[in-house]
Amino acid sequence: MQTVHTLDPLRSAVAALREAGPVALVPTMGALHEGHLTLVREARRHARGVVVSIFVNPLQFGAGEDLDAYPRQLARDSALLEAEGVDVLWAPTVEAMYPAGFSSNISVAGVSEGLCGGARPGHFDGVATVVCKLFNQVMPDVALFGEKDWQQLAVIRRMARDLDLTRPAADAILGVETVREEDGLARSSRNAYLSPEEREAAVALPRAMHRAIAGIENGEDVAQALEALKAEIIAGGFASVDYAELRDAESLATLNARASRPMRLLAAARIGPARLIDNMPVAAAPQ
Ligand code: PAF
Repeated sequence: MQTVHTLDPLRSAVAALREAGPVALVPTMGALHEGHLTLVREARRHARGVVVSIFVNPLQFGAGEDLDAYPRQLARDSALLEAEGVDVLWAPTVEAMYPAGFSSNISVAGVSEGLCGGARPGHFDGVATVVCKLFNQVMPDVALFGEKDWQQLAVIRRMARDLDLTRPAADAILGVETVREEDGLARSSRNAYLSPEEREAAVALPRAMHRAIAGIENGEDVAQALEALKAEIIAGGFASVDYAELRDAESLATLNARASRPMRLLAAARIGPARLIDNMPVAAAPQ
């Protein structure tokens, strides 16, 4: 595995990879866990060369968020990626990504609004801007993202369509199913912030979501199901619920009733020092 920290060596490394066949990009912020490694393995099924980026992107952290505390473990991450047979690790410095004078911003309206975009103003502008740069730096044939960040995936796909990106094209931006712990909690770098008691309680989030989905699919009123979901998350030990919503899976339009299109239940809730998010599919109503 070749590790590069600045743009010129990255471009040479990717050019060499491209001679052998299609190239996949897996963008990450490091602190890698099984969820990321699943993306890497999936990337290998779609491409000959695999590039992983690790960059803790300051643009997507708001004031008071965990930018400084965000785990940085490049040596450990690098060993994990090496063991997975990754070809290139792109670990730019902040100066390489945002040289002095950097002043552009990509803002994707609609899909960025509400949900995590509501609680974290500017977050998805930061994500869209860095991902657009990563795409232009690596020019991959395919890029892979975890479905755990469903709204992020929707924002990135919308950006790729709106800006006519070709490397990767919007339909080559692949979502990979969320990897879960044995008890059902979605894997996340932020789970590391939880005490053993908080970690045990955190399973209330996916458990309550499953129950709400069963209710909605069985014809329960959506507003009632969402209220019961929030109450169950709090009763399970969470301090607060940022949101619990039923949305159109692609446009993320708010739904007040079960639709005959693919839907997604999305929730975010706070426990101890962590804000955990999750999302799950809801079966479309029969036509
Ligand atoms: O999902 C993440 O880890 C980040 O938001 C991403 C896509 C790597 C952009 O910084």
